[in-house]
Amino acid sequence: MKNKEQELIAEAKKAIKFAYAPYSKFKVGCALLTKNGRIFTGCNIENASYGLTVCAERVALFKAISEGESELEKLVIYTPTNEFTYPCGACRQTLAEFNPNLEVILINKQNKLAQLKLSSLLPKPFTKEALK
Ligand code: THU
Repeated sequence: MKNKEQELIAEAKKAIKFAYAPYSKFKVGCALLTKNGRIFTGCNIENASYGLTVCAERVALFKAISEGESELEKLVIYTPTNEFTYPCGACRQTLAEFNPNLEVILINKQNKLAQLKLSSLLPKPFTKEALK
């Protein structure tokens, strides 16, 4: 495994410590690598008004975009569960806005990895092309 990938996995595991999930108790940590080599972490942030919850993936994405880093390379999503956690539909769509071919790595409690492309999770995204 490449060094940067190991770093990304370590960062996703660190990020889960900040997850605020008192309602679901389901904690998610992630780390997003941009083409410039920068890493943005994210954790899920729930709210007493449940629908306002933001997933870990979108927290990381918005941190990157808001700092001028919109070329996305790789995303690691970590959950300490037996099953892999696949990103929800809203996160797939928001990530696809910036890179529909984003590399996605899922990692579970047993440190098993699943490596896939966002395009396999969201094969036909709604894109800005439709608005032309
Ligand atoms: N969640 C994420 O942060 N990312 C995912 O990929 C799936 C779901 C969060 C949202 C909520 O805080 C909790 O997991 C349960 O849905």
